[in-house]
Amino acid sequence: MTQLDRRALRSAFGSFMTGVTIVTMRRSDGTARGFTANSFTSVSLDPPLVLVCPGNHLSSFQDFSACRHFAISVLAEGQEDISNAFASSKADRFGIAPHHDDANGVPVIKGAVSTFSCRAYKAVPAGDHVILIGEVMAFEHRADLGLGYANGGYFSLGLERAALTDSGKTAIGGAIIAFGDSVLLEKTVAGYHPPSITCRDRASIRSDLTTTFGSIELGPVYSIFDDHNTRAHYTFVRATAPHTDRFPGLEAIHTARLPTLTYASPAINHMMTRYAEEAQNRDFGLYLGDATHGDVHTISERI
Ligand SMILES: Cc1cc2nc3c(=O)[nH]c(=O)nc-3n(C[C@H](O)[C@H](O)[C@H](O)COP(=O)(O)O)c2cc1C
Repeated sequence: MTQLDRRALRSAFGSFMTGVTIVTMRRSDGTARGFTANSFTSVSLDPPLVLVCPGNHLSSFQDFSACRHFAISVLAEGQEDISNAFASSKADRFGIAPHHDDANGVPVIKGAVSTFSCRAYKAVPAGDHVILIGEVMAFEHRADLGLGYANGGYFSLGLERAALTDSGKTAIGGAIIAFGDSVLLEKTVAGYHPPSITCRDRASIRSDLTTTFGSIELGPVYSIFDDHNTRAHYTFVRATAPHTDRFPGLEAIHTARLPTLTYASPAINHMMTRYAEEAQNRDFGLYLGDATHGDVHTISERI
């Protein structure tokens, strides 16, 4: 590619929200092969066709390009670990992921929202990928939510929605705005906190944050908690800022310094300390709970 900036193009492609699938096949010597793919698309009902695009970077590229059968498992919320395993060259993929064989002897992932057992219909070379079209010979589907993927990170609509149901509390929305290795924080007499605003309601938090902070790019939700004392419901979203000059009231603090600061409340202290820790591996979780008790759910990111 000569004209286009590869990195920027990759990010632009990544802005398209998708689900996550595991594409699998079995070689004639019995070896199972599989990789994580978000290039899955349904193509036709009659005949029933789907497609997925294996890249020529895959160790299994030849296997998939020439296979007679393959299967696609659409991952459910909570199956991030399986997605990560099938995207990592080091993981024991089929050892980690519970699976069983379909009628063609191809492994399909247990707990998936849908599985499609396909006969290879056509493999069309397309640049550094091949468009592998499959005719669906059998499929399974259960009513559950699929795992989401956008901008290099997973999201789980079910988890986020469950936490967003209304309870009459004031909805406070905040943004943990990363700028390079720093985070933009507001300093008040009570201590530091990420910039936050009172929102119209929980469903409007994202749009209200965007309206207020204009040029920031909002990412996944990072922490959702109720504060019973103030009868407020807090939602903090990770965000990035292209530059700091539009945020004159905020201080850019290096993430390594975050655990040493005094924060406006113990809940913010807990959240920012966790953020500093997780930022080291860019392995961010989602906290759901109240100001003192809750759980961190894994929402890992592809680096
Ligand atoms: C969410 C996600 C979606 C991906 N989608 C694709 C895809 O559609 N096509 C592809 O070739 N690689 C895709 N990849 C990358 C491959 O999964 C990854 O490079 C693969 O596991 C490498 O396999 P190998 O170690 O056998 O070469 C994706 C990775 C992730 C995390």
